Amino acid sequence: MFDGFSFNQIEDYFIKHNIQFSYGESIHSHTAKKIQLISSYIDNWLYVASNSKVDDIYFIDLMSNAGLYKSGELSTYVMALNSFVKHATKHEDKRFHLICNDYDSLKFQTISNVKKLYEEEFAKQGITNIIIEANNDDALILLNKLTSRFKKFSNKLVLLFVDPYCMINADLAISILKFAKSVYSEIIINYFYNDYIRNYKNENAKEKMESIHDFSLKVCNMNPLKSKPIDVRNKFIQLILSTKMNYNYIFTMKNSCNGILYYLLYFTPNLKGLRKIKNATWKSFGCNNEYSPINIERDYLNIFGETEEEEKERYVLEDYKEHLKSLKGTVISYSSIEEYILQNTPLSEGKILDIIIRPLIKENLLLKQNVNGKNKYKDDDYLVI
Ligand SMILES: C[S@@+](CC[C@H](N)C(=O)[O-])C[C@H]1O[C@@H](n2cnc3c(N)ncnc32)[C@H](O)[C@@H]1O
Repeated sequence: MFDGFSFNQIEDYFIKHNIQFSYGESIHSHTAKKIQLISSYIDNWLYVASNSKVDDIYFIDLMSNAGLYKSGELSTYVMALNSFVKHATKHEDKRFHLICNDYDSLKFQTISNVKKLYEEEFAKQGITNIIIEANNDDALILLNKLTSRFKKFSNKLVLLFVDPYCMINADLAISILKFAKSVYSEIIINYFYNDYIRNYKNENAKEKMESIHDFSLKVCNMNPLKSKPIDVRNKFIQLILSTKMNYNYIFTMKNSCNGILYYLLYFTPNLKGLRKIKNATWKSFGCNNEYSPINIERDYLNIFGETEEEEKERYVLEDYKEHLKSLKGTVISYSSIEEYILQNTPLSEGKILDIIIRPLIKENLLLKQNVNGKNKYKDDDYLVI
């Protein structure tokens, strides 16, 4: 059964049929990990979307790259197409739309050839519910067109991915905000912090510096030279959270010297989405490797001789106890605990009871209210003692 194409299959096909194509650059291991994370999330998201009531499901990759990287990986949009095949064949009542784009004409040519290859195979396989749109626009122009197009109709689910090589510019950021305001969607933005830090005071790269200043001033209304870069990032996050978005998770991507390269900023209007991104994060990064979400949140010291995982989880619990201090005497719901933990710590949903709630009850810091009986933990409230 057809389940998408691998890198080798696409490359072999292009070579055998003498089809012109370009490779994207050779990518670093952190970029390969980013592609793995986003693709794993798309697959989780497609599972939820396919089982929802909507008719149309859209993944938009505003900056797609060619499709094949020199180092042997597939671009995110091709990974997404392979996931589309898996879900579309099981859900023939839904339409799966991929909108990809690159302003580079060589990369666009390759995107068009990848599109043709998939479309020919879909025709052979009788798959009629995957629609691919390939664009050769500037991301800003395409996003503005999509905002007008999408705000007109409902009954769809949309995931927007914005993945530049450098700090996004002010105009694009403003368009993302407009999109988030008018289109019910989920959004992932690669926020290139390293570019910001290196260049916001770099008189030798005037154009870059001015573009970063523009972002800070025009989008966040903050003076770039008097504001901490992290505060500018946080203001941007707050601006997006003031649209239709309710939840945010920040994934930090570091280089081998432990310096921050970029943040993947994830936004969703829906708690289910937040759960899915955390599951995808753990699936892609696990606990015991350099990219693990738990490793990069803070430096951990091994003082109690526990396993690495236990020790890190204990720190999350200690951090949460600090947060609870300000809530003393109030009654909080399970979902408010979950929302906090999923957004502010590396833990995923499956760990909340064992790592947070049960230990806090045992330490007499939370008193379970048993609103729905003794055994129901998720449908309950807790008094903070
Ligand atoms: C980091 S790569 C994208 C990687 C891809 N999203 C993936 O996950 O495999 C950035 C791509 O965006 C394209 N690009 C950069 N600025 C753009 C813009 N303003 N409009 C359209 N494409 C752009 C570049 O040509 C490059 O191929």
